[in-house]
Amino acid sequence: MDRKEFLSKLSMGAAFALTVGCFGSCKKEEDQTQATLVDDSVDFTIDLTDPTNGNLLNNGGFIFNGSVIVAKDVNGNYVAATKVCSHENLPDIVFRNNEWFCPAHDARFNINGQGQNDKGKRNLLVYNTELNGDLLRVYS
Ligand code: FES
Repeated sequence: MDRKEFLSKLSMGAAFALTVGCFGSCKKEEDQTQATLVDDSVDFTIDLTDPTNGNLLNNGGFIFNGSVIVAKDVNGNYVAATKVCSHENLPDIVFRNNEWFCPAHDARFNINGQGQNDKGKRNLLVYNTELNGDLLRVYS
């Protein structure tokens, strides 16, 4: 092996090592970002008589409360989820066609948070709801 061939093999090995190292740390960094953005300890109450929550009186309507989206499904049940999409962590989740939807890259999740296409394959964190008269509790 001459000097030129040796240097060529050395640079290919270094490039491979750097690439593999980046894949591992980039994935870890992405997971940490998702964990930071998604609020997994949620507990708040919404007054449905408050006009600012009026969208929740209509089936298919939704509102945002901090990092949470709350919606009324087509059957009149209240559902809630994080508004941070599991695809690329964008806070763009909306409620559309009786499912969670992210318009950034068209990720779809059913009401239970299960991904419905490739972009939604990591599923979506959903929260519990409990209706007591006109008060809607949303909690994890
Ligand atoms: S960030 Fe939601 S689909 Fe890509």
